[in-house]
Amino acid sequence: MKTFKINNSETTQALGQRLGQIVSPGDVILLDGDLGAGKTTFTKGIALGLGIQRNIKSPTFTIIREYKTGRLPLYHMDVYRLEDGGGDELGLDEYFNGNGVCVIEWSQFVANELPKNHLTISFKRDDSNLDSTNRTITITASDAHYEGMMAQL
Ligand SMILES: Nc1ncnc2c1ncn2[C@@H]1O[C@H](COP(=O)(O)OP(=O)(O)OP(=O)(O)O)[C@@H](O)[C@H]1O
Ligand SMILES: [Mg+2]
Repeated sequence: MKTFKINNSETTQALGQRLGQIVSPGDVILLDGDLGAGKTTFTKGIALGLGIQRNIKSPTFTIIREYKTGRLPLYHMDVYRLEDGGGDELGLDEYFNGNGVCVIEWSQFVANELPKNHLTISFKRDDSNLDSTNRTITITASDAHYEGMMAQL
């Protein structure tokens, strides 16, 4: 486990960018935590690290957005809308078994569909004040592959 105390969105994005530089084909990154805590901001950093120039938009309504202009394809998923189920109908396995990188916001809502191995990144607001920019980011790895990745962050 690794913990980062962060106090601005640029630092969150920069951490994502470092991850984007070291991910490999088939990697699965789970982003969990409070509303507005920084999951999409972090994903923008991953995209930058992959060399994707296009603006990353939150896929809350489309659920999955694909970006194919970087070093590896990026599949950005936000499954918040599947809170009440339906994740089994998305065909997520095709993404997980592909050569791209899957980044999933609110992954707990598709917990039954997730592959066994992944990097989990949890975002927590440190203050109840909604204007506060303080966040705690906690990273956990499921296996040696992801531990190696975590060690480079
Ligand atoms: N330290 C920080 N890290 C990330 N974002 C921050 C930070 N401080 C302030 N912010 C702001 O908080 C907001 C985070 O929004 P973002 O869309 O990244 O959150 P999210 O976790 O994806 O939300 P949602 O659950 O709605 O998908 C942005 O407006 C960002 O500028
Ligand atoms: Mg988001």
